[in-house]
Amino acid sequence: MISWQKYIAYKNEARKISMITCYDACLGRIVAQSEIDWVLVGDSVSMVLHGHASTIMATPEMMTLHTSAVARSIKNKPIIADMPFLSFRKGIPFALDVAAQLMQAGADAVKLEGLSGHEEVVSHLVETGIPVMGHLGLTPQSVHQLGGHKVQGRLEADSQKLLADALELEKRGCFALVLECIPHALAKEVSSKLSIPTIGIGAGPDVDGQVLVLHDMLGFDPSFKPKFLRHYAQLEGASLEALNHFAADVRERTFPNFEESYL
Ligand code: KIV
Repeated sequence: MISWQKYIAYKNEARKISMITCYDACLGRIVAQSEIDWVLVGDSVSMVLHGHASTIMATPEMMTLHTSAVARSIKNKPIIADMPFLSFRKGIPFALDVAAQLMQAGADAVKLEGLSGHEEVVSHLVETGIPVMGHLGLTPQSVHQLGGHKVQGRLEADSQKLLADALELEKRGCFALVLECIPHALAKEVSSKLSIPTIGIGAGPDVDGQVLVLHDMLGFDPSFKPKFLRHYAQLEGASLEALNHFAADVRERTFPNFEESYL
């Protein structure tokens, strides 16, 4: 069982939390061996693995399938699953059904983007016993309203609203908050006013933890390089080299050799 309270102590001790996305059992096996604190089955899976242009194409079925694959391979870390597009905007019963599917697939908590219009859903999930993570700033499910994947909260009115929403999410029982693509000074202010941890992505260093998309930080697509992203590996290059090596070995009949063949 996860004790989310423990992470409030992390915040108080200024011990940073690392979170990484994971969508499948193959990379899940590696994440399980790492020192990463939390795992997010993000709806970014619809872009990263399914090739869609936005997270709008993620469905409850897609999120449940990936959550169960991750949960089969990661038993030693909290798993948070994204509630997909509109799944928390169709009323409490529908939100409960989707949250139930994700929890039964192996999630320890769910994450919801935004606040306005689904305040009661957040409260109801928490009261039902489902840990909820909030997500403010750039909320990619609203990409069409935001006019693209752009930095949020630069205007005074927007930053005030974000701070008010963060406080409201904490009041409604969220155990943590993702802050995505906002000015670092705003992220610092929000983090200092909350007692729950804030996990930043493109929100600067003064938050309580950081999250990255696993495939982005492993460099599967070096052309994707937003300002906040650090590539910790170059797996596109390494994968291409391996594939071309294999293709050459097949052409040159050096693969397989007799040690790689059955008697
Ligand atoms: O879906 C996702 O990967 C996310 C992270 C970027 C926070 O929500």
